[in-house]
Amino acid sequence: MSKAPPLRLGVNVDHIATLRNARGGARPDPVRAALAAIEAGADGITAHLREDRRHIRDTDMARLKAEISKPLNFEMAATDDMLRISLATRPHAVCLVPERRQELTTEGGLDVVGQHNALAPYIARLNDAGIRVSLFIAADPRQIEMAAKLKAPVIEIHTGGWCDAVVDGHKDKAEAEWTRIVEGAKLAQAAGLEVHAGHGLDYDTAETISALPEIRELNIGYFMVGEALFVGLPATVRDMRAAMERGRKRLEGGTPA
Ligand code: PXP
Repeated sequence: MSKAPPLRLGVNVDHIATLRNARGGARPDPVRAALAAIEAGADGITAHLREDRRHIRDTDMARLKAEISKPLNFEMAATDDMLRISLATRPHAVCLVPERRQELTTEGGLDVVGQHNALAPYIARLNDAGIRVSLFIAADPRQIEMAAKLKAPVIEIHTGGWCDAVVDGHKDKAEAEWTRIVEGAKLAQAAGLEVHAGHGLDYDTAETISALPEIRELNIGYFMVGEALFVGLPATVRDMRAAMERGRKRLEGGTPA
C-alpha cells in the first residue's frame, strides 16, 4: 500500500469565544487558544463569524489573521456583509455555511443545488481574490456535483448526522450515514474537489474517518474545547492528532475503514 496522503487538523476556536462571551470580558481569549493549538500541532485555525456574533467577533477574526502563523479558515454565510469582511480579512480559506439564527449550531449542509444562482457570485468573488472556497455540504451526490459545477475547489462534508448516530448508538443510521460519506468522498475526489470533513467529530469518529484516503482536512471544535477543560488544549490537540494518525495507519496497512 502506498503512503497515505497527508491529513490536516483545523482547530475551531468558536467555543473558546462562547465561554468568553458568557461573562462579556476578554478571557478566555480565542486567539491565545489558536496559538496554543498551533504550538501543539494544529495545521490551521477555523472560526465562524456568525451574523448574530454569538461567539467569534469581528475583532477576533482580524486578530486571528494578524497573529497566527498557520492558515485561517473563515466560516461564514454567503451574505454581502460577510463577503466584505472576508475580502478585507484575506484568510487562506472561506468555508460557506448555511446559517439560521435560531439554530444551536450549523445543523445541515448548504443547499448548493437549490441556491446555485445565489451562491455563484460569492464563490466567483472569493476565487478571484485568491481565497480558497470550501462549501459545507451533505455527502449527497447532487450537492457534490453542483459544488464542482460552481467551481469551488473544496467541499467540507457535514459529518454531524453520522457522529450523532454513532454517539447515540443508532447503528443502522450510523451505517447508512457512513456509507454516504464514503461514497460522497470518492465522488467528490473524482469530480476534482479537495475533500474536507467536520462537525461533531470526537477521537473515535475522527480516527474512523481518517482512514478515508480522500479526506485531506478535518475541522474540529466543540469536542476538543470540552476535552480541553479536563486535560488542557495542547494535550487535546496531541491526542486528536494521534487518533487521526491511527486512522491513517489503518489505510497504509490496508485495513478497511
Ligand atoms: N466545520 C464546519 C463547517 C462547521 O460549521 C463546524 C461548526 O462550527 C465545524 C466544522 C466544527 O464542528 P464541531 O464544533 O462540532 O467540531
